[in-house]
Amino acid sequence: MMTMLRIGLVGLGRLGKIHAEILSGQISNVDLVAVCTLDDKEKSWAVSKLGLSATCCFSDFEKMLDEAKLDAVVLASPSSYHFNQTYLALSLGIHVFCEKPLAVKEEKIQNLFDILNTNSGLVCQVGFMRRFDPVYMKAKEKIVNGDIGEIILFRGYSLDPISEIHNFLKFLPSSSGQFLDMAVHDIDMANWLIDAFPKTIYSCCNSFSFREFEEFGEGDNVTSLMQYENGSMAFIMAGRTAQHGYHIETEIIGTKGTIRIGSVPSPHQLEILDGSGVRRECYTDFADRFYLAFQNELVAFIKNIHEDEAPKCGIHEAYKATLIALKATESLKEKTLIKL
Ligand code: NAI
Repeated sequence: MMTMLRIGLVGLGRLGKIHAEILSGQISNVDLVAVCTLDDKEKSWAVSKLGLSATCCFSDFEKMLDEAKLDAVVLASPSSYHFNQTYLALSLGIHVFCEKPLAVKEEKIQNLFDILNTNSGLVCQVGFMRRFDPVYMKAKEKIVNGDIGEIILFRGYSLDPISEIHNFLKFLPSSSGQFLDMAVHDIDMANWLIDAFPKTIYSCCNSFSFREFEEFGEGDNVTSLMQYENGSMAFIMAGRTAQHGYHIETEIIGTKGTIRIGSVPSPHQLEILDGSGVRRECYTDFADRFYLAFQNELVAFIKNIHEDEAPKCGIHEAYKATLIALKATESLKEKTLIKL
């Protein structure tokens, strides 16, 4: 019989609550035994909804690691904490699932590789959940099978609904920028599907509706064009001003065919015919679009720990996506082509 894994969850915000729900009822052989958050209301939520005792709700990450006897942590804390929290947990021999991005600046990533090399049974997975979404998995399968030939262009859009902009603007000063915050998912998808590394990056942006972004050298919409070592190209766009909802769209144009994912960003086939014409409802947020992928990635994390297998989305993959996102940001700020 499999042993129960004792899990500690860090962060109970927008995404942390989703991970909590999944870990506390939807996966076998895990026990969510502790949470860590700075917010007292979130601690009360953990007591009432997760059935944790107040003593299992920590404000201090290190104290939780010291006291809760954990096998693994799931990190859904703000991005600026990810690298240090990952490093600390791994160095104590605790498995880590870390939300994206792994880091917000060029960190001593070699230290993480060193820990993992000397502890071959430790699992460190990073939250690129699109790799666990059935539609993206099907696209990957078709590409590997050669169905669309050689990849000419990867085109990825990540657009957040404008209805959320005021929540986002509160966090703008602490944001790590649109490429690390949002487009890093598309960067990881491009890396995964093209299966190579870029050699050049050029980014640009503009603030069409919210000039607040300009103070940080950013825009409310950003784009980047990359050329990969194998000649494939990638065009990526991330924006915060979609009027219609949460819109994740991907197109992969190949020499023998094209794959499109999410060009109509709607959860169902239902169409509404009314005074505005004929329309479909749009996804509202990341939970609406990717709930199954969030479940699948945590199931895979737990399975990898139990079966002593390397994650399909680990530190190497996260490092590459982080580095590219940092270079895309540098190109934006310096207004120049970056060679990698
Ligand atoms: P949030 O702001 O809603 O929640 C942050 C949580 O972290 C709060 O519970 C807060 O109390 C806690 N926290 C803050 N400082 C802490 C510290 N020093 N130690 C422990 N806990 C601390 O943030 P949200 O939107 O849930 O994002 C969290 C992370 O998840 C971010 O890194 C973000 O990039 C990532 N994310 C990933 C998504 C995806 O599509 N995979 C979607 C949304 C967020």
